[in-house]
Amino acid sequence: MRHPLVIGNWKLNGSKHMVNDFIVALRNKLSSVVGCDVVIAPPVAYLDMAKRHLDGSCIALGAQNVDTHFSGAFTGEVSAEMLKDIGVKYIIIGHSDRRTLHKESDDIIAEKFFVSKTVGLVPVLCIGESKTEKEVGQTEDVCVHQIDAILNRMGAKAFENTVIAYEPIWAIGTGKSATPAEAQAVHKFIRGYIAKHDESIAEQVIIQYGGSVNTINAAELFTQPDIDGFLVGSASLIVDSFVMIVKIASSSK
Ligand code: 13P
Repeated sequence: MRHPLVIGNWKLNGSKHMVNDFIVALRNKLSSVVGCDVVIAPPVAYLDMAKRHLDGSCIALGAQNVDTHFSGAFTGEVSAEMLKDIGVKYIIIGHSDRRTLHKESDDIIAEKFFVSKTVGLVPVLCIGESKTEKEVGQTEDVCVHQIDAILNRMGAKAFENTVIAYEPIWAIGTGKSATPAEAQAVHKFIRGYIAKHDESIAEQVIIQYGGSVNTINAAELFTQPDIDGFLVGSASLIVDSFVMIVKIASSSK
């Protein structure tokens, strides 16, 4: 039985004030909500502070990036061990912002996945196609290619206790989410593809949907059998919207 999971990816947003006010409100509003794991992923500068504000709550901490190295002369980078050391549990890997803006290749993403798993972080592997790729019918090929990078590096066991986030690029930040049927078809395909390598891992791997999730579309998306939760961008910056999405994902299907 897969446990629903909602992650708020704050991207490059936030401040000391926001972290403080947001977490106080979030803890308060979610105090009676069970049935859904909740994670916030603020920018790296606020992770330690956020962790201290989250202490004693069930809300976990996620980070948005990690280096491929464990330590050494890599100016400006943050290692998986450092993230683990300050209490981070989840790590977002392969987000399209990083694939496109920072030119992260599948090999780099596989290495980030590897170092994260090695230290005991939970990787959240983002995959998904561009608008053009969708239009020419390459959605499944793109997902396979991005998943294969991990399978080739670590084998199917890599996906044990991990998360895949299907985030079609055309839906990110556009206000135009995939329809529930569209998303379900891809999620089912992804689970089926993992099952070809390991059925029990496919059954337990959490597959989130991300891309313009909001308080209006979350409920119908969540009714789909292979949608196990959400990776939320802009709606995760407004505490009431984020709480409502969590409540939707904590209701039984
Ligand atoms: P939006 O919810 O703003 O579309 O962002 C989705 C996303 O990229 C989460 O990682």
